[in-house]
Amino acid sequence: MAERWSAWTEPAAKAAAEWGPEWGATADERAAVARRGARMLRPFAEALGVSLDETWLAAFASWVRPVRGGLNLWDALTLGLFVRTLRPARIAELGVAGGHSSAVMLRALAEAGIAPADATGQPRIWGYDIARTCFFDGATPVGFAVRELVPELASGHRLATGDVRLAAAELEGAGLKFALIDASHAHPWATFDLLWLSRALAPGAWVVLHDVSLARIIAHREERAGRPGVRMEYGAEVLFDRWPGTKAVGLGWAGNIGAIRVEDPAGLSAVASDVLASERWETDPGAEITAIAGSARRAA
Ligand SMILES: C[S@@+](CC[C@H](N)C(=O)[O-])C[C@H]1O[C@@H](n2cnc3c(N)ncnc32)[C@H](O)[C@@H]1O
Repeated sequence: MAERWSAWTEPAAKAAAEWGPEWGATADERAAVARRGARMLRPFAEALGVSLDETWLAAFASWVRPVRGGLNLWDALTLGLFVRTLRPARIAELGVAGGHSSAVMLRALAEAGIAPADATGQPRIWGYDIARTCFFDGATPVGFAVRELVPELASGHRLATGDVRLAAAELEGAGLKFALIDASHAHPWATFDLLWLSRALAPGAWVVLHDVSLARIIAHREERAGRPGVRMEYGAEVLFDRWPGTKAVGLGWAGNIGAIRVEDPAGLSAVASDVLASERWETDPGAEITAIAGSARRAA
């Protein structure tokens, strides 16, 4: 954990700014940044058993653009790498906001030769968000970036208003081999998202968790600004750090995105008990959501 955090502080301090500069102002700059930093994605390539294709990384980086409230370049490349490698027939996406992750995954599917809709006409990506408008702008509809970044692939994104209960009801038994959890970051939401979503997962599914270093990043920025660091929004971090199975997290700027491999989606209760009891809950998702954990108890 300490290693991951120190890996994160280094580029942040060097850039003397937030994520923006790492994007590069032009497509060529982004491609160059991706080539320079490709090694930061090596843990994901190793976990997936593939070699890093720097030519593809550079090309994907030159296509992708920042979207407000969305991913950094390395998050986008990581998502692209997973989708391109796993070639999932359908993806569950929890937390859509502007739709950056949606657009990135649609593009990666298309690059892998996968049509936006399957043989039955169903879209490939099933996105869920509790909000209808973006958290950063009440006038902007959730998912707007899909039409801006990949208008020709928009039919591949199905957007529903609701949380993981809706996702579980609609996708139960779907045997998904890939999903993204990027919804509420307050502990213990990510853990309950995974528990509910497990009904839709295939054994051995990969689940990407965004913001696995968010609490550390927030605290770091606060400290840099001369304020005492506040530890908050550690839901994905706790789940990732206590995940007992196969997992990977990026290095440096890619250190805020992680992936866990769910070998036994039906057997998560022991993991859940451990995660739920390990840290103070930042919020209470409510009785209906938490009932799925059975006797698992919250940390005092
Ligand atoms: C960090 S943003 C998602 C960013 C998005 N993946 C992207 O790439 O632009 C988190 C989103 O999750 C939504 N959200 C918060 N709690 C949620 C929950 N319990 N279930 C589903 N969505 C939730 C918020 O409304 C917000 O739009």
